[in-house]
Amino acid sequence: MSNRPTLVVANRKMHGNLPENQHFMQTLLQHTARHLARYAVCPPHPYLFQAQQLLQQSHIAWGAQNMSRYERGAYTGSVSPSMLREFGCTYVIIGHSERRQRGHDNDETCGERFEAALKAGLTPILCIGETLDEYEQGETDVVVSRQLNPVISHVGIQALSQGVIAYEPVWAIGTGKAASPQHVQAILSFVRGHIALLNPKVSEDITLLYGGSVQSHNAAQLLSLPDVDGSLVGGASLQVEEFLRITDIANAVAA
Ligand code: PGA
Repeated sequence: MSNRPTLVVANRKMHGNLPENQHFMQTLLQHTARHLARYAVCPPHPYLFQAQQLLQQSHIAWGAQNMSRYERGAYTGSVSPSMLREFGCTYVIIGHSERRQRGHDNDETCGERFEAALKAGLTPILCIGETLDEYEQGETDVVVSRQLNPVISHVGIQALSQGVIAYEPVWAIGTGKAASPQHVQAILSFVRGHIALLNPKVSEDITLLYGGSVQSHNAAQLLSLPDVDGSLVGGASLQVEEFLRITDIANAVAA
């Protein structure tokens, strides 16, 4: 057993509205009041103020799904790190594959975003993971190293532990087909080992999540893997009852 806390993050993607978010957050608040596991909710940007209103001074954190790597300027449609801080965000998701695939992010800009998040006092959740093709070619190790290295060169190995890394195989996201526990453990153990070569303490301390079709029927197996410290949950966070079942499992693992 590690001393790392268990963290479950709801990535609500482009879903929700004011009444539905309110129901989700209030139900989650009540249900997890005595839990040992930690939780965060990442709604779309316009709802961060609502998250702040409902979750402030509670045990649940909130965060954004993306942010600009710049602090200010002529970047129409973008949101800066300090704006997220102003709305009380603790976390920001960086480099989700749904943004990488549409050309909004690459390994280099993820390094810049990770650095900008830390500078603003946010905890970046860096998403890494291979495509189906890369998985089938057995290239996962190469891909995740390629995605991690620019971040390490931007912030340095010491600062990496102030962030969170989420391993999310692209082929497992939103497909209902989670990666096997063997694959998840092998890759996260590889990631921890890769970090340990540079700094063993950072590799011990850093929070590593798995994401990709985590649901209540597979959460117990995935969350109890030795190198998995929690999960980034997309689809299963859209139904509050299903998400609560995952929180109960996370809490049992954390205890
Ligand atoms: P999923 O999404 O749980 O729906 O697979 C996870 C994610 O995209 O973070």
